[in-house]
Amino acid sequence: MNNMKPINAFLISLLAWALPFCNAIAAGVKFLEKGEKKEPSIEKVFMWDSLGKRYQSKPDDLDIAFEFHFQNHTTKEIRITQAFSSCGCTVATLPKKPWIIKPGEKGSIPITMDVRGKVGIIEKDSTIVTSSGTVVLTTKVAIGADTSTTGGAPRRERSAEERAANLKVAAQNRQAVFQNNCVECHVKPTVGKRGRQLYATACGICHDAKNRAPFVTELRAIAKGKDRAYWDQWIRDSKPGTLMPAFGKKHGGPLDESQIKSLVVYLTRIFPRELKTKQAIEAASKTGAKPGELPLK
Ligand code: HEC
Ligand code: HEC
Repeated sequence: MNNMKPINAFLISLLAWALPFCNAIAAGVKFLEKGEKKEPSIEKVFMWDSLGKRYQSKPDDLDIAFEFHFQNHTTKEIRITQAFSSCGCTVATLPKKPWIIKPGEKGSIPITMDVRGKVGIIEKDSTIVTSSGTVVLTTKVAIGADTSTTGGAPRRERSAEERAANLKVAAQNRQAVFQNNCVECHVKPTVGKRGRQLYATACGICHDAKNRAPFVTELRAIAKGKDRAYWDQWIRDSKPGTLMPAFGKKHGGPLDESQIKSLVVYLTRIFPRELKTKQAIEAASKTGAKPGELPLK
């Protein structure tokens, strides 16, 4: 078993990882409990019912669905052009892009947080980019580590030991993530999903994890200039001898042709643009430029 050596070295470094729970840009946000109702009254580009929502998670929660309500109280039309989140586990959904909000019009933006395998307090920011500036919406979920209330039900969080054990299994067979218990977090959430949501559940779970293992590539850093053939090959067949699983049916993977296609389209067309917008916003917040002055194209 000498091919396990590098993995063992890695397991030790695993123990040294802290759990860096997130970086809400919006410090000092007043949180509204999930499900609590309030008319939009907070002004940020237009009116929102809240800029932050929180939820005390139950042990068997997998996806936490929040909804942020807004009203365009201004006298001009506002276009919502983008929505993206600080990690792949959180998805803000727009019905279309651009989404035109007429004066007086009300609407809402659903934000879903995937809390599989997570424990502690998770706080994520979703940035909504509009023609009149950006708005950051923060969602926060507290996942208790207390097992006394679960009635012996299986817990959703993973301990360092379980993670290490999973890695050992994956080192012996990179397709193991699609089998046995692994299915619950690595396959079930992908069922029926396409495009961005599929990316978040199938790929983001490893590649965008906040406490990602050091050998898991930062895809946003290498995405520039990669063509369809590149993504298709990695998704479908991956490479033997790596820990990256092959998602094609031919290798026992879970994704069908149309899902793979939707991922390739997302990764070549939308993913690089999301990166550009994200960098522009980060750069602007460093120089103190107003979000409304961002180059959006
Ligand atoms: C309870 C949910 C859950 C289950 C079950 C699960 N995983 Fe994961 N897995 C995750 C999450 C979440 C990550 C991303 C890293 C993190 O946040 O801990 C991950 C990451 C990984 C990685 C990338 C390396 C790393 O640790 O970051 C591998 C490989 C992996 N899982 C393999 C497996 C295998 C094999 C199984 C089954 C034996 C399995 N996982 C079961 C949630 C799960
Ligand atoms: C179980 C964790 C896991 C999942 C899920 C996963 N990957 Fe990976 N991926 C890895 C690891 C680990 C590597 C690094 C492989 C290596 O070089 O050893 C990798 C490498 C890659 C690479 C190569 C990057 C480079 O270094 O050139 C691409 C591209 C990639 N993954 C895309 C994806 C896509 C797209 C998905 C979703 C369909 C996905 N991955 C899902 C773990 C994962």
